[in-house]
Amino acid sequence: MRSERFRDKIMIVTGAAQGIGREVAIRAAAEGARLALVDRSELVHEVAVEIETAGGSSIAILADLENWEGARDAVATAIRQFGRIDVLVNNVGGAIWMRPFEHFDDRQIEAEIRRSLFPTMWCCRAVLPSMIEVGSGVIVNVSSIATRGINRVPYSAAKGAVNALTVAMAMENAERGIRVNAVAPGGTDAPQRRIPRNSENQTEDDGRWIDEVVRQTTESSFMKRYGTLEEQANAILFMASDEASYLTGTILPVGGGDTG
Ligand SMILES: NC(=O)c1ccc[n+]([C@@H]2O[C@H](COP(=O)([O-])OP(=O)(O)OC[C@H]3O[C@@H](n4cnc5c(N)ncnc54)[C@H](O)[C@@H]3O)[C@@H](O)[C@H]2O)c1
Repeated sequence: MRSERFRDKIMIVTGAAQGIGREVAIRAAAEGARLALVDRSELVHEVAVEIETAGGSSIAILADLENWEGARDAVATAIRQFGRIDVLVNNVGGAIWMRPFEHFDDRQIEAEIRRSLFPTMWCCRAVLPSMIEVGSGVIVNVSSIATRGINRVPYSAAKGAVNALTVAMAMENAERGIRVNAVAPGGTDAPQRRIPRNSENQTEDDGRWIDEVVRQTTESSFMKRYGTLEEQANAILFMASDEASYLTGTILPVGGGDTG
């Protein structure tokens, strides 16, 4: 029997144009969710078409979530369309550069924090008043096991902050009927990114620093392998569903034994 954990639920998925966000959105739609797919890439429209073609329901919203205005307007559009938000999956993020900390310049450090902390911070702020008003809601933040990892200190720090805001928001909002959890993926295999994290030419050093990350990530996993998009979506959708009704303020590592 097909599972329908999200029947009649309204869900926002950020960064839904590719990768983990796309997988979460397609799977949630197949389980009955009506979706607002938010991304700054036009490719998000293709995901909306894919969902409609499979008989699901979604709208695509273009927004840059690194800015408060982008997050505020995206959430307002979703609420105008659907009337309320039951679930917010904050998935935008990802390391832009991989290199030892002494090789990051100040512009890069700020860009990493803007990419991997602010979209989650702003979207939580944008959605919270409407969840408080209806007295229920679920937020799942996508963190990373890279809070303990090499060659991406600014990204690690941003995800550490995501973990902190997850727990603090969970404490403030539990008695208002709102659950806030995070899932921290380990290394995850995915098709070649159509939207690159970084469009600069890769140097020989860049290649070596990325290889070091892959080696450390694989070795830190008890299973000695990367996960799949499906394995990450499984955990995110569990946290988003009523099956996790007694879970809040939890950071769930999904890294084959690497706890981050
Ligand atoms: N892929 C991994 O191995 C891995 C491991 C650990 C954690 N994670 C986390 O999982 C999440 C998803 O990772 P992924 O690899 O699927 O990402 P990705 O880079 O493949 O896709 C990110 C999506 O977010 C969108 N996006 C980026 N910046 C945006 C912005 N400012 N506003 C709106 N949209 C924006 C992009 O257009 C893209 O569609 C991230 O938070 C990442 O840190 C990923």
